[in-house]
Amino acid sequence: MTNDKPPILVFGATGRQGGAVARALRQAQWSVRALVRDTAAPRSIALNDAGVELAQGSLEDIEAIRAAMKGVHGVFSVLPGNLAQEEEVRAGVSIADIAVERGVRHFVYSSGASAGDRLTGVARFDAKPRIEAHVRSLPITATIIRPMIFMEMLARPGFGLEEGSYSFFLRPDQAMQLIAVSDIGKFVAAVFADRSRFGGETLKIAGDTVTGSDLEAVLTQAAGRPIAYARFSEETLMANPDLGHMAASLETGPLADHVDLDVMRQINPEIISFRSWLSGDGLKAFEEALGRGAA
Ligand SMILES: NC(=O)c1ccc[n+]([C@@H]2O[C@H](COP(=O)([O-])OP(=O)(O)OC[C@H]3O[C@@H](n4cnc5c(N)ncnc54)[C@H](OP(=O)(O)O)[C@@H]3O)[C@@H](O)[C@H]2O)c1
Repeated sequence: MTNDKPPILVFGATGRQGGAVARALRQAQWSVRALVRDTAAPRSIALNDAGVELAQGSLEDIEAIRAAMKGVHGVFSVLPGNLAQEEEVRAGVSIADIAVERGVRHFVYSSGASAGDRLTGVARFDAKPRIEAHVRSLPITATIIRPMIFMEMLARPGFGLEEGSYSFFLRPDQAMQLIAVSDIGKFVAAVFADRSRFGGETLKIAGDTVTGSDLEAVLTQAAGRPIAYARFSEETLMANPDLGHMAASLETGPLADHVDLDVMRQINPEIISFRSWLSGDGLKAFEEALGRGAA
């Protein structure tokens, strides 16, 4: 299956984005190396079974990262969501610096669509624009992707599905863009396939656009019973600064600035809608959120 091309090193390959990227790159016949913390963990073994070379290491282990980057063509950098801002920046900057040192030909950093170009003052959103600025300053061919909201985020417990309702940030007529994690992998594979087109680009990526009313219709159809949609209350949004920031970002900030889905389809012709995701990759999580247990 693998060819003679040097590998692409994927971070976070036992997680959502890195896992999807590793799968899509293997599908596209790239050799893939993954930096994993525990080579004996079931997800690492599954990667290895799928033809991914494992390199043991962690974000804290600079020498392991340096060793894992030896001889690679490309790097996909994504950082876990649970790091403090300074830790995330330190890791993101080190990975990019080592890529320069190693002469990596194409560096892809997964940022976030809620990041935007300006600092927000909200710690969990500000690491990404800082890392982006550093990546752009380096002498390396880099592509920054900014995925819109993951479809996976919508089918979690806690939004009311069990009680036949659904609460989210949108007003009924307000639209937001979503992306299935599997499509992030396919976009990244398309980016690595065309370095001259995507090198130097910052690319927001999405797979579907839905309004609050669409959520009600799509969730009702997928559940086979009525799901009533309502926006989070103002009290809820005001009580939690992260939620309030997300709502503002969807209203007037970076998440309100939508991408052209036709352009997305040219890059990744297989993009899936939220409706298709709910009956495919998302089915198990959706059934669980509905309180029906595993499908
Ligand atoms: N747009 C959205 O809706 C949305 C939603 C969620 C997250 N995000 C963003 O996505 C990013 C996280 O990506 P994800 O959701 O794909 O992550 P994820 O599924 O949580 O996976 C995290 C990955 O990082 C690895 N990891 C954690 N700590 C590590 C360390 N110290 N050293 C090396 N590897 C480590 C984990 O490995 P182990 O298997 O060893 O734990 C795992 O592979 C964050 O930037 C977050 O802000 C965006």
